Amino acid sequence: MKKNLTLLFVLVAAFAACAPKSEMDRFIDEIMGRMTLEQKIGQLNLRSAPGFISAERVTEEDENAKLLRRGLLGGIYGSGNPELLRKCQEIALESGAGIPLIFGMDVIHGHETVFPVPLALSTSWNMDLIERSARIAATEAAATGINWVFSPMVDICRDARWGRIVEGGGEDPYLGGEIAKAMVYGYQGRDAEFDTDEVLACVKHFALYGGAEAGRDYNSVFLSRQEALNGYMAPYKAATEAGAASYMSSFNEFEGIPASMNRYLMQELLRDSWGFKGFIVSDATAIAEEVNHGIGDLQEVSARSLKAGLDMDMNSDGYTGTLEQSLKEGRISEADINRACRRILEAKYKLGLFEDPFRYLDAERYAAKVYTEENRAAAREIAHECQVLLKNNGVLPLSKDARIAVVGPLAQDAMAMTGTWAMSSHGRESVTLWQGISEVASASYAEGSWLFDDAHLEENVRYGLYKAFVPGFQVPPIHSVSQQSLIADAVAKARKADVVVACVGEVPNMNGEGSSRTDISLPDAQRELLKALKATGKPRVMVLVTGRPLSLVEEEASMDAILNVWSPGSEGGHAVADVLFGDVNPSAKLTTTFPRSVGQLPLYYNHKNTGRPHPDDADYKKFVSCHIDEINGPLYPFGYGLSYTTFEYGPVTLSAAEMPLDGSVTASVTVTNTGTRAGDEIIQLYIHDIYATSTCPVKELKGFRKVHLEPGASARVEFELTKEELSYYNHDLQWVCEPGGFEIMVGPNSRDTESVTLTVI
Ligand code: BGC
Repeated sequence: MKKNLTLLFVLVAAFAACAPKSEMDRFIDEIMGRMTLEQKIGQLNLRSAPGFISAERVTEEDENAKLLRRGLLGGIYGSGNPELLRKCQEIALESGAGIPLIFGMDVIHGHETVFPVPLALSTSWNMDLIERSARIAATEAAATGINWVFSPMVDICRDARWGRIVEGGGEDPYLGGEIAKAMVYGYQGRDAEFDTDEVLACVKHFALYGGAEAGRDYNSVFLSRQEALNGYMAPYKAATEAGAASYMSSFNEFEGIPASMNRYLMQELLRDSWGFKGFIVSDATAIAEEVNHGIGDLQEVSARSLKAGLDMDMNSDGYTGTLEQSLKEGRISEADINRACRRILEAKYKLGLFEDPFRYLDAERYAAKVYTEENRAAAREIAHECQVLLKNNGVLPLSKDARIAVVGPLAQDAMAMTGTWAMSSHGRESVTLWQGISEVASASYAEGSWLFDDAHLEENVRYGLYKAFVPGFQVPPIHSVSQQSLIADAVAKARKADVVVACVGEVPNMNGEGSSRTDISLPDAQRELLKALKATGKPRVMVLVTGRPLSLVEEEASMDAILNVWSPGSEGGHAVADVLFGDVNPSAKLTTTFPRSVGQLPLYYNHKNTGRPHPDDADYKKFVSCHIDEINGPLYPFGYGLSYTTFEYGPVTLSAAEMPLDGSVTASVTVTNTGTRAGDEIIQLYIHDIYATSTCPVKELKGFRKVHLEPGASARVEFELTKEELSYYNHDLQWVCEPGGFEIMVGPNSRDTESVTLTVI
């Protein structure tokens, strides 16, 4: 057997050697043939642009500029300044081997036109809409000169403490996979060609970054391979299937090896098993950080990262600083360097940069395509589908004739609309909640409260970023007006109004990178405001701005309505007003579980059963799996969200009670709009493998449809099930569908489902 295999390998290798080379291969062979070792290593080097600041500063003294002039940069990231990018490209072409640069950027939820934050986008469950947002972002970025975006971020997260939960698509691997594909298609298009509106996607963070212990950013991840494959990997894999051109390695370790030098992740899984053919860049300074992980000095970790399959070094100077020495010492081979260099040149070739290094740099396109009326309109439309109505006792929608008190520290905060990771918006102001509401109805405004009682905490949250990056930054005074007088003003305005809209929640630096929290309730100062408003007896709508699930037990009990708008983007205030006043019927549904208390975390709907299970809503009981002071269930389950209309679900039926392993069955349900308004409903299908050779989650999403229904109208929705939907990675890490019973569940969210049994034979 072994002999046969060896023979097979020899034959395959011989065939590959004689197979005609593609035009790209021949082109790159030719270039690499004339590159020096130093220049090849230079291609593996990515530096951030802030060092350049402006085109005029690209001088000999600048450290990055020196590297550029020596041809020792493969790319630059972090600048959306077309003038600067053009200048850099000109220098790159005149230096070293004359290879064009690629220009990367964190284009995360839009570019200059900002869309709702990614977690919000995911709650639309609308893949066309998500693809459209990525396509507009790509068009704008490409018109700025950028040809590589550090998105999509597809890290599954089950722990709301992690600040970066805002950047992903939630907790479910199936939905996450669909979103990953939509984003990649949006950025890169659906064919292999890159036109000038399309850019390279960079899937991040590979892998498992969202599994950070205690939700603390950059923390270690402790997952078995089986759980990683079943619960977390689907979105990364789906992105490869959609043709993603690049991946970014993550900061965390997995199985005791930092991800950026993890051969299992980058080579065995991503390349060998899934067939990824592009290049992998490290996260910022991730190679240098491997030294802190306790793996070795910069030379050692750089050599190990390269050998493990990491092609490009972002900001560590590990590759430029040490690879030549490692080659001399025999720690790496020239083939290791050539392989990585070739992958980066291939990406540049595919982008068409060798044909025209300036094809993305076109001042006319910039003027015509960026931050246009049309894109702004799209941002408003997209934000309509990304607002989750969590509670409504009938107070919503509001009448445009009502007198409205708009209160709260987030009512006039434009940055809170923009949200985290929007540096490419160039500081353009988003429409605030106050602007949106006051354009429609007669309204009064009060700031209402501080952000936090603790001034030090508030200072860090509001100005942490400036303190970290702006030398000599002077912190403006904090709490210069007393909390009592802010509240008194809000209460006075509330008393004169018919209804109060309280705008509370998180400002951008309360979520995102480096912004994990141990307390995920609304901050104390803002809760105090809500209590004072309650005492007025006026109807109260809470507009929640957040980048993560919060525990809202108090607010669920006391508010008349809660509309979770996340950070809704450039047109946020308008889009929220459209929903508040009923011009748009909300349809979004949660893609992350909202816990009752931080102590329940990690909390996610697709958990395993225990040997001593306890119903989600049952009171404390000794010797079963629960806490003494909280029920097991969430406050709002995965998939949950209300509408201004109501939907009724008929029984779930199967086309057959039994399914041969290679066959298929159809699950169907009829959904009727039983209310008085037209609305969209997201119908969800879950499965549960009743007995399997390894334990399986109690529920797993395997399909969803979003339907539009006029009042009184019904839709019959069908889901086809095959062994693919019923398979999982077993203990031996094989993807298998094991014959036996499956529960097939359909419903409006992960909690309220009806089920039927299917037997796979
Ligand atoms: C983040 C990445 C980002 C990179 C470049 C890192 O700190 O983790 O998500 O793409 O910076 O800005």
